[in-house]
Amino acid sequence: MERSLSLPDEAATRALAARLARALPKGAVLVLSGPLGAGKTTLVRYLAEALGFAGRVTSPTYTLMHVYPTPEGPLLHADLYRLQDPAQAEALGLFEEAEGARLVAVEWGRLEDFPGALLVELVPRSETAREVRFKTEDPALARAIARL
Ligand SMILES: Nc1ncnc2c1ncn2[C@@H]1O[C@H](COP(=O)(O)OP(=O)(O)OP(=O)(O)O)[C@@H](O)[C@H]1O
Ligand SMILES: [Mg+2]
Repeated sequence: MERSLSLPDEAATRALAARLARALPKGAVLVLSGPLGAGKTTLVRYLAEALGFAGRVTSPTYTLMHVYPTPEGPLLHADLYRLQDPAQAEALGLFEEAEGARLVAVEWGRLEDFPGALLVELVPRSETAREVRFKTEDPALARAIARL
């Protein structure tokens, strides 16, 4: 299924994150795509906030993965931009850690490496406006997105 929504400003992205945090099942994997500065890390920051994590959320560009303990369980945040070989995602322990996670968010991941994931593409429309496009083959995730 595919669905797109318009986010006129950052407050709309924050509100979307809150709805996603409520709608997405435990262990859901979000593959975040879109150009530099599209708002991938910003969306993860608001997801963490919505899950009740009070700490700082920064880009894991150099560390590749951050784990944020939230009251609902761990939020994993990976950025594979610097990964030469997608197979290295396995070496990160990403797949093992994902099993007990509340949510997994992967910037610059490849959808084919995450079967059953939710693709979240952020398309800049202006300085502050974004279009978000969801795509998934997973029935449970499709239902969650349809209900957003
Ligand atoms: N509607 C919006 N949604 C999200 N971010 C927005 C929006 N409008 C403006 N912004 C701003 O756009 C920037 C997005 O930066 P961010 O680091 O989240 O991008 P990114 O997609 O993670 O980039 P990178 O590919 O470098 O990791 C932030 O400065 C944020 O404040
Ligand atoms: Mg980022």
